[in-house]
Amino acid sequence: MRRLICAGNWKMHKTAHEAADFVKAFLPLAAAVPFATEIVLCPPFTALAAVSQLLTTDRVQLGAQDVHWERSGAFTGEISGPMLSDLGVQYVIVGHSERREYFGDTDAIVRLKTAAVLENGLTPIVAVGETLSIRDAGNTSAHVIAQTRAALEGLSSSQLARIVLAYEPVWAIGTGRNCDPAEANTVMSEIRSCVPGLHDVPILYGGSVKAENIAAYTAQPEIDGGLVGGASLDPAVFAQLCIAADT
Ligand code: 13P
Repeated sequence: MRRLICAGNWKMHKTAHEAADFVKAFLPLAAAVPFATEIVLCPPFTALAAVSQLLTTDRVQLGAQDVHWERSGAFTGEISGPMLSDLGVQYVIVGHSERREYFGDTDAIVRLKTAAVLENGLTPIVAVGETLSIRDAGNTSAHVIAQTRAALEGLSSSQLARIVLAYEPVWAIGTGRNCDPAEANTVMSEIRSCVPGLHDVPILYGGSVKAENIAAYTAQPEIDGGLVGGASLDPAVFAQLCIAADT
């Protein structure tokens, strides 16, 4: 059986102090989340150390929002896999649509980053998803399949077994307009079957996930949790969402 994961992507929100306040409030609430539900917090880079220090049990895992593909070098402003693992990071989001749209992360770059995450012993959360115009043109499947194949190209079967995927329709991110769960399930089943070896890989849905709608997603056979933006920023709200995911 695939594991159920609720991952909070804080994007460019929270200073290190604000992140620490979140964790202190969240940890007691997380005790009410069913144990089988894995919880991941992905703060900005500047808050990773503060959050890591407070996560003294593995009940809540630490994730980063991006990574550079080289281990070190002359890449001003970048952060490498060894730097993340040194801070206790276990997960790294790669290929988020905001990285693709605003920072030039192409399929080729997403592939390099995915491989780098794995080579550093971390778990990539590889995000794919279509824009509204791609969806309206009826090209959702072709687009997400191409993104998935490109990101995973060249990985061994043992590496593929260690990844997590996220399907985030771009038009559903931060809009309050979430994708119909059955429709997301169909796209995820296409993603799961487009590369051999993804049968046991968790696929998360992302895009306006809330405590009120997460259960409708996780009830779908292909959906193994949520990648959550706005609803992960408040400890009580995110705890409620994590509890609701397993109902
Ligand atoms: P929202 O949950 O705010 O729509 O963001 C989704 C997302 O982009 C998570 O990575």
